[in-house]
Amino acid sequence: MKLYAATGNAGKLRDFITAAASYRCHISPLPQLTEIEPPPEDGLTFAENARAKALYYAARAPGLTVIADDSGLEVDALNGAPGVRSARFAADSGLASSADVDAANNAYLLERLVAIPSAQRTARYKCVLTAAINGNVIAEADGLVDGIILTEPRGTGGFGYDPLFLLPHLNKTMAEIDLDTKLQLSHRGAALRNLLAILDAQH
Ligand code: IMP
Repeated sequence: MKLYAATGNAGKLRDFITAAASYRCHISPLPQLTEIEPPPEDGLTFAENARAKALYYAARAPGLTVIADDSGLEVDALNGAPGVRSARFAADSGLASSADVDAANNAYLLERLVAIPSAQRTARYKCVLTAAINGNVIAEADGLVDGIILTEPRGTGGFGYDPLFLLPHLNKTMAEIDLDTKLQLSHRGAALRNLLAILDAQH
C-alpha cells in the first residue's frame, strides 16, 4: 500500500513514516506539496479539517491515495482549548512575535495555566486522519492519548507541546521518550494504525 502524506510538518511526517514502516505500507510526502497553496483550516473539529485537507490535496494529485490529519491538544481547564487552534494558540492571542512558534505556544499555555493545580492540568492529544482518492474519502480514523500539562518543559525530543505533556504512567514527557515509544502510545500512532487497519480490510 502506498500513501502520500499531505503535511509540511516535519515532526508529523517523521511520525507517519516511522509508524508505517512496521506495516506493509509506505508513506511518502505528497509530491510538489510546497507548490500547492494550502487550504484554509477553518473547521470547528479535527475531523472536519482532516477531511477537507484530504479532499483538497487528493483533488490536486489524481490517482494518489492522500492522507491528511488534523491534530492538537485539548486542555480540560481551558474547556478543550487550544483544540483545532493548537498550532496558532499564541498567534491567536496576539503573541506571534517569536520566530519559534512552538516555544511561543508553550509559553502561552503555561501562562494560561499558571493558577491551575497539577490535579486539574489534565489534557489529551487528539488526531484524526482521513484518506482520500480522486474526490472520495475512503477511510477515517482517530486516536488519542491522555496526559498532564507540567509547569515547566522537560526533554528535547518531539515537537509542539511535547516538552509540557507528561505521560503519568511513565513519568516522562512526550519530549523525553524515543520515537518508537512515542508512536506506540501517541494519538498519531493510534490514528495511523486504525486507518491502516481500515484500508487493509478494503483490499
Ligand atoms: P495541525 O498541523 O493543524 O494538525 O496542528 C497541530 C498542532 O497541534 C501542532 O502544531 C502542535 O502545536 C500540536 N500537536 C499536534 N500533535 C502534536 C504532537 O504529537 N506533539 C506536540 N504537539 C502536537
